Amino acid sequence: MAFQRPFSGRALKAPNEKRRRKNGDYVKSALIWLSRSKWAKEFTKKHGFFRRFSSRFVAGETLGQAIGAVKTLNSLGIIATLDHLGENTTNAEEARKSAESYIDAIREIKSSGVDSNVSLKLTQMGIDISDDECIENVGRISEEAKRNGNFVRIDMESSAYTEKTLNILRILHGEYGNVGIVIQSYLKRSADDVDSLLKLGANVRIVKGAYREPLSLVFPKKHDVDENFMSLVEKMLSESAQKAGCKVAIATHDEKIIKRCEKLISERKIGKERYEFQMLYGIRRDLQRALSKNHTVRVYVPYGTEWYPYFMRRLAERPANLLFLLKNLFNA
Ligand code: FDA
Repeated sequence: MAFQRPFSGRALKAPNEKRRRKNGDYVKSALIWLSRSKWAKEFTKKHGFFRRFSSRFVAGETLGQAIGAVKTLNSLGIIATLDHLGENTTNAEEARKSAESYIDAIREIKSSGVDSNVSLKLTQMGIDISDDECIENVGRISEEAKRNGNFVRIDMESSAYTEKTLNILRILHGEYGNVGIVIQSYLKRSADDVDSLLKLGANVRIVKGAYREPLSLVFPKKHDVDENFMSLVEKMLSESAQKAGCKVAIATHDEKIIKRCEKLISERKIGKERYEFQMLYGIRRDLQRALSKNHTVRVYVPYGTEWYPYFMRRLAERPANLLFLLKNLFNA
């Protein structure tokens, strides 16, 4: 999963804070640069320490390990969505293999009896080869999911893919009905995109957004990204959205936003079948458990041998994770 933080144009106050944030930005940029570096990937994958540490964010390298992690979550009352980590591909054979791996995952979910759906990326399914190739691959996965009473979520990648992703969602939603999408609150266009998805009665995951984007396309201040997140959730919980059969996945670890959403859900008396909270594997486990007492909570469970870029981006998201890793490295 290639999530990266957007450039932050937050208003800065004290000079010390300014310096600290600047340093933090350098660390993030360095980690994101390293996430794309081949030698760093080889080095990291060779050393068991990093693999062990990455297991905080990645459920394992095999489908069996991922299903094991889902079983543990299920036993805590938390459901899941499986993400088979993979690289962007321009090779048709690789894209088909990636699709096969998702079909295997859907079958394994069924046969093991765990409660999970799947999340995938169109760059892994051949969108850079052709739209037709990609639609064919995701179509096969959606068909298998439908046969098994399951659901497929299309993750949202960088803004270069937003329009194509929406178009492909419309086609697949029309054909199979069990396909949903993700909308990023940092993008200025997202309110219009949600309006168009409301008409479809779509299932939409709202996230803040994790890619580096041109400043002209995004809200540069975190405050505005957060407020837009709330306003998109409000749209998804509106009367017209409910009438159209929409469902929203509120995907964040931000406690303030979660509290505001809980208030909205209770005021509007939204049924449990219309919304769920979602978080990433290994992040805010305490919050996942607490929230699952009153709401449906789904955890995004990544697995696969291509864990390195995903792991590096989780570190970049929160430099405290890097400090923790370094401390353990020197104590190891
Ligand atoms: P924010 O960044 O404001 O963080 C709030 C708090 O969460 C932090 O203070 C900290 O406590 C905790 N936290 C956040 N990240 C952490 C980390 N790495 N380690 C430890 N603690 C951390 N993006 C995208 O562009 N396309 C997509 O398809 C998806 N899909 C997706 C699915 C799911 C289920 C989730 C939860 C997220 C995504 N994302 C995504 C990623 C999303 O855009 C965003 O980058 C992350 O969720 C982090 O932002 P928060 O909303 O958590 O808030």
